[in-house]
Parts: sequence; C-alpha cells; structure tokens
Amino acid sequence: MYYDDIVDEIKARLDIVDIVSETVRLTRKGSRYWGLCPFHQEKTPSFCVTPEKGMFYCFGCHAGGDIFSFVMKRDGISFKEALELLASKAGVSPSLERFNTKQKDLKRFILQVNKKAAEFYHNNLKSPKGFLAREYLRKRGISDKTIDLFKLGYAPDEWEGLKNFLLAENIPFDYLQKSGLLRKSDKTGNYYDLFRNRIIFPVFQYNGDIIAFGARVLDDSMPKYINSPETEVFSKGRNLYGIFQAREAIRSANEAILVEGYTDCIKLHQSGVQNVVASLGTAFTQEQARLLCRYAEKVVVLYDGDEAGQRSTLKAIDVLTREKLQVYVASIPGRRDPDEYLDLVGKEDFLTFIKNNKISHIEFKINYYLKNKKSLDLEDKIKIINMLKSDISELESELLRDYYIKILAQKLVLEENIVFREIKRENTKKLVFNGNKKQIKRDNIRYDNSSLEDRLIASMLKNGYIFNRIKTELGFGIFKNQTYREICILYDGLEGGTEEKIKKLEQQLIEKGLMAEYARLMMQDIVLIDESGIEKIIKEVLSRKREAALQKLLQKLNSLKDKGDFNAVLRFLVYLDLFLNNRKEGGIK
Ligand code: CTP
Ligand code: MN
Repeated sequence: MYYDDIVDEIKARLDIVDIVSETVRLTRKGSRYWGLCPFHQEKTPSFCVTPEKGMFYCFGCHAGGDIFSFVMKRDGISFKEALELLASKAGVSPSLERFNTKQKDLKRFILQVNKKAAEFYHNNLKSPKGFLAREYLRKRGISDKTIDLFKLGYAPDEWEGLKNFLLAENIPFDYLQKSGLLRKSDKTGNYYDLFRNRIIFPVFQYNGDIIAFGARVLDDSMPKYINSPETEVFSKGRNLYGIFQAREAIRSANEAILVEGYTDCIKLHQSGVQNVVASLGTAFTQEQARLLCRYAEKVVVLYDGDEAGQRSTLKAIDVLTREKLQVYVASIPGRRDPDEYLDLVGKEDFLTFIKNNKISHIEFKINYYLKNKKSLDLEDKIKIINMLKSDISELESELLRDYYIKILAQKLVLEENIVFREIKRENTKKLVFNGNKKQIKRDNIRYDNSSLEDRLIASMLKNGYIFNRIKTELGFGIFKNQTYREICILYDGLEGGTEEKIKKLEQQLIEKGLMAEYARLMMQDIVLIDESGIEKIIKEVLSRKREAALQKLLQKLNSLKDKGDFNAVLRFLVYLDLFLNNRKEGGIK
C-alpha cells in the first residue's frame, strides 16, 4: 500500500505510449495505438495501447495490463524492479540510480552532463554576459516565457567557459568528452568548448531529457548553426526538435505541424500553434516519421516557400506517406520561411492562412509538377500521371481516389476515364485490397461487440450503486467469467472512494496476475448500463431464475405423481402455491 503515491506519480509522469514505444513500433489509429505484439509472433498488429486508460492489450495472445505489467513482462522483472525502473525514468525518486549495464550508465551520465550544460548556457543568457544574445532574441520576437519553455541559452565568447564550469562540478573528463560538447585542438591536443558566442537551442527528447544542442551565431557569419555531433544519446535523424514541448498538443489535435528551422518551431509555438516540431536540419527521415506516428495520424508540412523548401516538402511527403500518415501541405508565399511570414502578417492572419491554404499532399504534387509548365504535351501528361499513380491508388477511400482522379483530369485537360484507366493499370494488384482486409479484421477486434458481462462489470466498477444492487440482488455468481467474479470480490473488499478503490484494485490485479483480463475490458469502448437498465437486468435475471426453479418443481411434481405418493403430492402443491405467490410479489417489485 505504501507504494500508492509513487505509483500514482509515475503513472502521471510517464506515458504508456512512450514506454511501449521503446520496444514496439506503434501507430496511432484514432485514440488507440497499434503495433506488433512483443509477446508473441505475429505479422499483423493486434497489440493495442490506449493512453487515456494507460493500458495495453494484445487481442492475439491476450497479454495485457498497465505500464507496470508491461515492463515486468517485457524485461522479465518483478513489480518492485519495474517500480524502480519506471521511477527513475519518471525522475520521481533520486535514490534509484542503479543501472545494470555500462552502456546505460554512460547514457545516463551524458544526459546529466547535457542537463548541466543547458543550465550553464541558460544562466549565461540571463547574466550580464548574455546581454547581446538577449537583445538578439528580443529583436526576433522571442519572449522570456518562450526562452524558459525551450530553455534557450547563450554560450559565452570563451574557449573554456563550459569546460571549466563542468570540471568544477566534478564531472569526470571522460564523460565530458563523450558528451560531444568539447572539441580537441589538432595543434595542442587540448580540449575546448565546441559552442562559443552562440545562441543555444537544447534539443529535448520526448521525455524531457536533453540529448543535444543546436547553436546559432548572432549575426550573418558562417556557419549559421553548429550542432552537437552524434553521441551515445543523440542521433540526428531519430529526433524532432520541439517534440517534448509539442507532444501533448500533437496528440490532442491528432495532427503535427512540421517545419524546418529551430526558430520556426519556437515562434509558431509562441503564437499558439503548439503542435509544431522541426526536423533538425536534415532531410526528413523515416525514423522521424515513425516518431510522429506515435502521436498523430495527420501531419502538415510547413517548409520554407523557396524552391529548396518545396523540394524538401516533396521528399518529406514520400517519407510520411510511407508511414501511412495523412499528409497536408501549406506553402508559405514568397520565399519566406514560416517565422518570417509570421512576423510579417501577424499571428491571426498566419493561422487563418494555414487553415485556408492547407492542401492534401496529392494536390501539392499536382501543383508542383504543373507549376513550371507552360504547355503540356501528351507525354508530359503521362509522366505526371505516373508520378501520382501510387499516391492516388494507395488512398484507402474510393471516394478520395475518384476525387483526385477528377482533379488530375481537370488540370491535365484529359477525360476522367482515361486518367482512371491509366492509374488503374499495373496498380490494380497493389490497390488497397490487401491492406483493406487486414484493416477490417483489426477493426472488428477493436470494436469488439462487448458482451453483456463486459458491460455489466464495467458499469459496476464505474458506479458504486450499481455494484451494490448487483451484489445484493444477483450475487457475483452471475458472471461466467471467473476473473470478473474475482475482480468483484477484490473490489468489494476495498475501502475508499471509487477512484481510490480502482487504483487499489489495479495494484492487486497486478500482484495476482489478473491484469490481462482487466486490460481487455478497459480497452473496449464499452457502452455502460445506466441504473434503470440495471434494474431491468436484475428483473430479467430474477424472473428467469424463478422460471428455471418452477420448471424444476414441476418436474419434481410429475415424478411424485408417478410414484403415486398422494400425501407427498399434496404437501408439494402447498409449497408450489407459496412459491408462485412469492413470485407474483417479486414480479411487482
Ligand atoms: N541548420 C543546421 N545547420 C546549418 C543550417 C541550418 O543545422 N548550417 C538546420 C537548423 O536546424 C535550422 C534549419 O536547418 O533551424 C533550417 O535552416 P534555416 O532556415 O537556415 O534556419 P532558421 O532556423 O530559419 O534560422 P534563422 O531564421 O535564425 O536564420
Ligand atoms: Mn528562419
């Protein structure tokens, strides 16, 4: 019991989707996340996570539970060990810094060095040394609040500022070196600060760990940015700038906005577009797309308005659609980047612009290919159709496919059915049929028609009155499902309010190994039964019980008659009369 607080705290701080994503590639579908089950071999995903409920469940092997049962099962560890592991991830208990492997140790240390470095830079920005840097940020319209939220900093114009600070903090030199924050001089062999006289943008991982830094000059000198090298904790193509600050907004909007630059990301966030991330200055990678899949089904690409930006958009579209994300594009007018355009037109107009100018990736492609063409000959047209073929045929909805074929035909000034035939050719086999079948199977599982038992127990756990009505009128024996009976018995023995009891129940279910069945229940979109519905059920069950009892009695009567025991028959008839009268009363109740 004394774990209660810490368990709550851990659950509040950690997100089951994040933890599961450490080992399972999850894709969002509506409010649920699907992936290949790590606990049995499978080719189509039947493993499902729901973040609102903090539960996972596999419809294939029936493994299921909460964040604790997941790591217990994944790592083969006890509840206590899982608690330690998750506590340290959540940063709730500083005493739990034990790690089993050297590798993890090193990562941990580098993260600590980064944290200290970020504080050093941040404090510097706020100190007299950071005056010019503060001025610079102010001129760019970045507020103090934003500076704090993104923990922006300033690397002083010194060769060993950071190095000396960290050494004074007793950080072993080995870790300092491995953090990538120092550079070795070819001439002297001495180490010096990598970032000097630059604005610092810490790169946060989804969980708030600082894994790297970007650093910008204060003027027009080159290179504009220097970034951390790849380290034990950082790999450029695997992270998105701003994900930590944006993830909740992305999840609730089910949509992410993708920009190129640090400043675009920060400024948009400041203007109220909080579901924004930046691609860290590389070509957008498959890993980054997968990271987005964890949080949203839709992505709006908002790259610079120049030719380079449009070309990167084209590439990003392909990467994103490969992950089955729905992709939209908003093209910034002129050659501006989103940050400049925002400054130019102001927040309101900027938001309206995005809203009104967001087009699907297919329309973007059509426009892009048509843009520089004055006249189109048939060959051009066929080329363009070919370039759009797979995008259109991969759309799941027939309606949308028809829609884009129509648009394409209009823009190419061709008969619709010619475009249709052209797109259908070759692609017929690939056309959704395969994917669709899988989808249907999965959807059946998802919206599993929950049984009356499922609905009943779910309603009982939600509503104490209902729980007691069922308990006193029908008893827990009405459940065929053994686990449900046990859940009722356990729940009945608990003290406190409903929420508190549920928490205790979940804890006990983990300890008793009964979590999977409970998780299966929680996974469903169960339509709860209300109190009047419950009364109907009680009546129905009771009357059926009586009917069954009556049938038994009548059978008995028949067998007595057969034996010819007149007295016994008479006594029995009196009893039967009593029973039937009683039933009438029961019926009126
Ligand atoms: N970038 C980089 N190294 C460079 C140039 C760019 O890592 N030498 C990355 C940065 O992440 C940068 C992004 O590419 O944010 C986009 O580049 P750019 O548009 O030039 O940067 P902005 O963030 O728009 O910079 P600013 O508005 O401050 O000029
Ligand atoms: Mn810019």
